Amino acid sequence: MRILVTGGAGFVGSHTADAYLAAGHEVHIIDNLSTGRRTHAPVDAVLHETDIHAVEAERVFRDVRPDIVNHHAAQASVKVSSGDPVRDLEINVGGTARIARLCAEHDVGKLIYASSGGTVYGDPTWLPVSEQHPCVPMSPYGLSKYSGELYVELFSRTHGLDFTIFRYGNAFGPRQDPYGEAGVVAIFAANMLAHRPCTIDGDGEQRKDYLYVSDVARANVLALDHGSRQIYNIGTGHGTSVNEIFQALQDATGDGTPPVYGPPRPGDVRNFWLDCSRARQDLGWKPEVTFEEGARRTVSSLRLR
Ligand SMILES: NC(=O)c1ccc[n+]([C@@H]2O[C@H](COP(=O)([O-])OP(=O)(O)OC[C@H]3O[C@@H](n4cnc5c(N)ncnc54)[C@H](O)[C@@H]3O)[C@@H](O)[C@H]2O)c1
Repeated sequence: MRILVTGGAGFVGSHTADAYLAAGHEVHIIDNLSTGRRTHAPVDAVLHETDIHAVEAERVFRDVRPDIVNHHAAQASVKVSSGDPVRDLEINVGGTARIARLCAEHDVGKLIYASSGGTVYGDPTWLPVSEQHPCVPMSPYGLSKYSGELYVELFSRTHGLDFTIFRYGNAFGPRQDPYGEAGVVAIFAANMLAHRPCTIDGDGEQRKDYLYVSDVARANVLALDHGSRQIYNIGTGHGTSVNEIFQALQDATGDGTPPVYGPPRPGDVRNFWLDCSRARQDLGWKPEVTFEEGARRTVSSLRLR
């Protein structure tokens, strides 16, 4: 298939592009390199360096005529969204509406949309959080990702566009910059390799759903043939505490610098993990890389930099 990956020079998008190439597909990437890097985009993919809002993006749709569009381009930081909610809205909501419209106009077979399980639900009222949980986002970023989902569904209803929506947990792995949603793994690993102390917010017993990025990429490959007009949580189904992350990374790096415990982050959700049984049932997807193995691979990639 001919697949267009937006945001394919970013962290998750580049791993997704890698996975599509490995499965034998032709891959094109649209990325404005605002946070992505040219070197992250696989060499076997065609990189169209442009903005999803630009006229040029429309030309790519016309020339490439993709069978599938995989939409990862976004402003992906909760912190940045809180500082500039309007810009976040323009990129994440306006950008997704535009991509959905282009898909409908250019007869794209399916739009695969990267949403955020960690932010669209808000404070969980039950655990693990299933797809039926109400969406009550607590940040402009969470609201923008959820609004993007609604636009994708709208274009499905009005234009017959097929889609799969993924609500990821906190992805981690090589190529992640330390400011993303799951930046803690990248930040801690980089600190430990430089023997700098890591700051743990609060008591470090807060638990979130961290999953290795190749597992996320694999879900995107499965969505080429499965999961029509469905929403799937993509996570591990359990929480990993910040203390456990710290320990796994100390084991992987061999660093012995003790952590510094700081005040808890205001408004931080203490426990959050996703119920991923729907993805297991429909897509045959389950995470394959343990946190410890993922930590080792992340550290190895940082050592090579
Ligand atoms: N990383 C996670 O844990 C996580 C969790 C849930 C959802 N997501 C979603 O996955 C996607 C990728 O996130 P990431 O962590 O890889 O972030 P990232 O910042 O590494 O990737 C985003 C990519 O989009 C590009 N981009 C941004 N705005 C653009 C625009 N207007 N036009 C063209 N390209 C643009 C950036 O240059 C970058 O390459 C995002 O949609 C994000 O919301 C990520």
